[in-house]
Amino acid sequence: MRDNFFLLSITLISLSLPRILFAQSEHPLHQGIYSAEQASRGEASFMASCASCHANDLRGNSNSPGLVGVGFLFLWEDRPLAELFNKMRSEMPTDRPGSLSTAVYLDLLAFILQRNGYPAGDSDLSGAVAEEPTVLIVAPP
Ligand code: HEC
Repeated sequence: MRDNFFLLSITLISLSLPRILFAQSEHPLHQGIYSAEQASRGEASFMASCASCHANDLRGNSNSPGLVGVGFLFLWEDRPLAELFNKMRSEMPTDRPGSLSTAVYLDLLAFILQRNGYPAGDSDLSGAVAEEPTVLIVAPP
């Protein structure tokens, strides 16, 4: 009887474990929503158009907020990725809002995601995904 109970427990644990792991890795931001090439294009654009205020390491300065780390996550966690994308696209850079192409804003978002520790995947972040309101920002894996 004891042995049966033991076997039953093991079976239940091994059945539920993959589901727990799957639930955590299921989030789009944990699956690789952008490509590494896109992030490196984004890095070049960031250095040209954004680093003067947000700094080369994205940590910001006394006038501009940092775009990485716990402070950034504190502000953006559980909010749609689309909100971050639209804010960048309509308000940044502050001296020339909306002056870059959609493709460049997508590259910039890919770079910011990469620097925040989200993994790269096989394909570029598309406008459709970046504007999809159900994709929420969650903590990096
Ligand atoms: C001239 C300085 C300046 C430049 C250049 C600039 N920003 Fe900003 N950025 C700011 C300031 C100031 C804020 C905070 C005020 C606000 O949120 O509107 C900000 C806010 C942001 C935010 C929101 C941060 C948060 O946590 O709320 C993002 C994302 C961002 N910038 C991205 C960019 C990107 C990408 C570029 C390059 C295309 C860029 N910025 C260029 C000054 C700048």
